[in-house]
Amino acid sequence: MATEPQASTTHDPVLPRGRQLAMYRRATKTLPGGANSNFRTWGEDTIYVDRGKGGRVWDIDQNEYVDLRMGYGPVMLGHGDDRVDGFVNERMRRGVSFSLTTEDEVRAMELLCELTGWVDMARMTVSGTEATMHAMRVARAFTGRTKIVKFEGQYHGVHDYALISVTPDNMADLGDEDNPVGLAWGRGIPEAVARTIIPARYNNIEALRRLFEREGHDIAAVIVEPVLGNAQGIMPQPGFHAAMRALTEEFGILLIFDEVKTGFRFARGGAAEFFGIRPDLATYAKAMGNGYPAAAFGGRREVMSVLPDKVSHGGTYAGNRVAAAAAVKTLEIIRDTPALETIHATGRRVQDGLREVLNPTGIPYVFTGHPSMFGIMFTDEAPTEYRDWAKSDHELYDAVAMGMLVRGAMPEPDSREPWFICEAHAEGDTVDRVISIFEDALTAALEARAHGEVPLSGDGAASHPAAG
Ligand SMILES: Cc1ncc(COP(=O)(O)O)c(C=O)c1O
Repeated sequence: MATEPQASTTHDPVLPRGRQLAMYRRATKTLPGGANSNFRTWGEDTIYVDRGKGGRVWDIDQNEYVDLRMGYGPVMLGHGDDRVDGFVNERMRRGVSFSLTTEDEVRAMELLCELTGWVDMARMTVSGTEATMHAMRVARAFTGRTKIVKFEGQYHGVHDYALISVTPDNMADLGDEDNPVGLAWGRGIPEAVARTIIPARYNNIEALRRLFEREGHDIAAVIVEPVLGNAQGIMPQPGFHAAMRALTEEFGILLIFDEVKTGFRFARGGAAEFFGIRPDLATYAKAMGNGYPAAAFGGRREVMSVLPDKVSHGGTYAGNRVAAAAAVKTLEIIRDTPALETIHATGRRVQDGLREVLNPTGIPYVFTGHPSMFGIMFTDEAPTEYRDWAKSDHELYDAVAMGMLVRGAMPEPDSREPWFICEAHAEGDTVDRVISIFEDALTAALEARAHGEVPLSGDGAASHPAAG
């Protein structure tokens, strides 16, 4: 997840930010850091939004951007989608919160089961954080075991069990490569809780086998983001998920796919369909509600049947009217229209354009992730795990991302976050705009580097040409 961005270079234009600066000063008096999430506190660069429509967003100084963050992924169709908003509006006029059940909730979970094809039962939550927390509890209850394996660099939300070995800048903090340590992100996480989470290295099946042989009898589940979303969507090595599926079955350990980012995005059935894997449990959020706070966890009937009698799950807003209606309409659109095909094709168009800009420069780069959610790493070698992010020239990437922002296209200004493509990005000149903004930002970043403003970083940096 994102950290505070670096400032743009002296080779970049300066945007009017008077209103936002005033809002920042006002907001910091009541909201720690001036925002409702640590990931949005960018100091004096904190962005305060006025509105969004389609693939664009406007800040309160009326600067317009092509939005490549899309709220960290959820807004798959586009901001203010009339189909979803119209349905939600109609439904919410009937009352929003009863702590009783509406048909929309039943319909939403029926659609989730239909689209995934393997989930038999699911329950709604309000956030992805809750979904992963409940999935972990269900796995523990079902197996009678305590420990959960999670992969370094993977983000599963902000509950205590999820905040282990997530996002250090310094890879040494993760411990020895053969013996990773559980690194709590921030204070306040009880050590006893942290000790129940075992960090492992993504894409390293041999190390996972050794771990299972040592501690398998204590391990309830492996939770995995099918791609490493917190490091630009690093893909699994061929066969990694299938091998992990076989290994978990061998040791009676449940496999939880955290599809909060990939669900209904990579394919209608999410990453499970895309990679051809049947996990035991999965979590969904972002794409299922086009930005409304809809989330869910679900899985095999036998596993989910620990609910309601043996395991606690509830929530005043779980399945609330707004979320359920948004999920129904969004999932119907994903099922019945070519929205996903449009998103995938648009992502490929953007990547083609970026290649045309990058290839003549000789800068080493790789695309990570899936066209609907991809990253650009300035490195010679395709990354396979979170530790590899440090080997890329992320300082150059960060400078390009900030340069894009001040030119009117907004990727997350942290090289770990992928670009998110939505259906509305296919409209008008959006793709061309993104590519020409990228080109200008890259040129400026290289000029700034030649003037010593952008430090070299990672293994690939040395082979970068000087400013062009
Ligand atoms: C893979 C994954 N899991 C869980 C979460 C947490 O979801 P939320 O922010 O809705 O709590 C996120 C959020 O970015 C995520 O990307």
